[in-house]
Amino acid sequence: MSFDLVLFGGTGDLTWRKLMPALFQAFRHGSLPLDGRIVGVGRDAMSDAEYRALIRARFDSVELAKRPTGDEFERFAALLHYLRMDLSGPADYAELATLLKARQADTVVMYLATAPTLFQAICENMAAVGLNGPQTRVVLEKPLGHDLASNRAINEAVLRVLPEKQIFRIDHYLGKPSVQNLFALRFGNSLFEPLWRRETIANIQITIAEELGVEKRGAFYDSTGALRDMVQNHALQLLCAIGMEPPINAHADAIRDEKLKVLRSLKAWTPETLKHHVIRGQYAAGNINGEAVPGYLHESGVSPDSRTETFVSLRAEIANWRWAGVPFYIRTGKRLADRDAHIEVNFRPTPHAIFKSPLGAGNRLVINLQPKDGLELHLLAQGQDNRQGARAASQTLAPVQLDLDFDKRFGTERVGAYERLLLDVIDGRLNLFVRSDEQEEAWRWVEPILDAWQHDTDGPRPYTAGTWGPSASSAMIARDSHWWSEES
Ligand code: BG6
Repeated sequence: MSFDLVLFGGTGDLTWRKLMPALFQAFRHGSLPLDGRIVGVGRDAMSDAEYRALIRARFDSVELAKRPTGDEFERFAALLHYLRMDLSGPADYAELATLLKARQADTVVMYLATAPTLFQAICENMAAVGLNGPQTRVVLEKPLGHDLASNRAINEAVLRVLPEKQIFRIDHYLGKPSVQNLFALRFGNSLFEPLWRRETIANIQITIAEELGVEKRGAFYDSTGALRDMVQNHALQLLCAIGMEPPINAHADAIRDEKLKVLRSLKAWTPETLKHHVIRGQYAAGNINGEAVPGYLHESGVSPDSRTETFVSLRAEIANWRWAGVPFYIRTGKRLADRDAHIEVNFRPTPHAIFKSPLGAGNRLVINLQPKDGLELHLLAQGQDNRQGARAASQTLAPVQLDLDFDKRFGTERVGAYERLLLDVIDGRLNLFVRSDEQEEAWRWVEPILDAWQHDTDGPRPYTAGTWGPSASSAMIARDSHWWSEES
């Protein structure tokens, strides 16, 4: 199978940080079809050789194990080409069309790794030169808009030139092996399904914590914030995966139909829940791994009186028969105490207690997403370690856990998120991509939060870098008599 992959934004951050390393890994693993061409598109004039040299130099900042040897790069570089284009006007698209039509590849992938303000122009200009045939697939990177209206405008513009089945909206969390395992856990095993409901589950917590700050993306982040950057997409996709009904088969639309139903069932916000069930924070100076780090307001590119949130925690409810009344807590933030993404499913206590249990201990399933990848099943057992008080020991249970480490079992060298997603685009598999209606529904749900914040004079609550966010986040969940995992 032959392919042409056009990277709009071919000299940009995403290309050299994520896309090129992923393409190289696919090449190294032998999974990238060899009859392929990767065409970087950028504003500067450059020859193919200069582009290859630029990409080669960028690989120096990729982790060692994923860096090509000289010989490997030479073979990989044979796929790389460069085209200078002004993306905003129609003039340069004819040249792109000539380049692509001369080869007639089976699949043409247009990867839009540019500012979303250019998406509409790129799609229209592409179509004007006939580059929207059935072999074309367009990949759209997030953020896809900054609210429902702008998201819709982009979707409508793209859908005017291509049908939905040729549009691949990326949420790289769906490409993570650990997130795919979440689907496997739920729909490849019979063990948990009977328990996966309000009668047995007390609450579910989704945590995506980062130690990093905004790095070099201060200006972008300052106009975005954690709700748009992480909650509207990654966190809600995780919530869908954990809350959805079993799809009728593994086809893309069957899965996406079920995710959409979850998003549609999310309980609408009221002034009361907006006030008490959403906490926003912004990091102040603190310590990460013993090193002093500046507060958000001192990051470069950030406005000194910014009210942008770097932390969000919230309480959601899926209002349907399976989940009515079960709180789903989501929290995500930068400069938190640990880099840790996990989902914790807390089961209800036994209906009648004949043993004593240590405070806070109960049955829970922890799905570790990163950096660890695996499952922990927390149970209670009869402890054998209380020699002095044999009688007390016979009544008090001890927490124990079953630990399943997928990194150990399957190795850490599994296919990375972008590698997997790029190969899926080339092969035309849509399962791990987001449909326009899902995306719009997610925007519809977060928008009242954005509106409420605009009118809220209090601003985000400060939290010290290296902690788990503002104390109000713990207070919010404590009101339901629950607590975050690190507090148990
Ligand atoms: C991106 C966000 O989508 O996801 C970043 O824009 C964030 O702000 C990143 O750091 C987190 O991804 P990962 O794979 O490192 O958890």
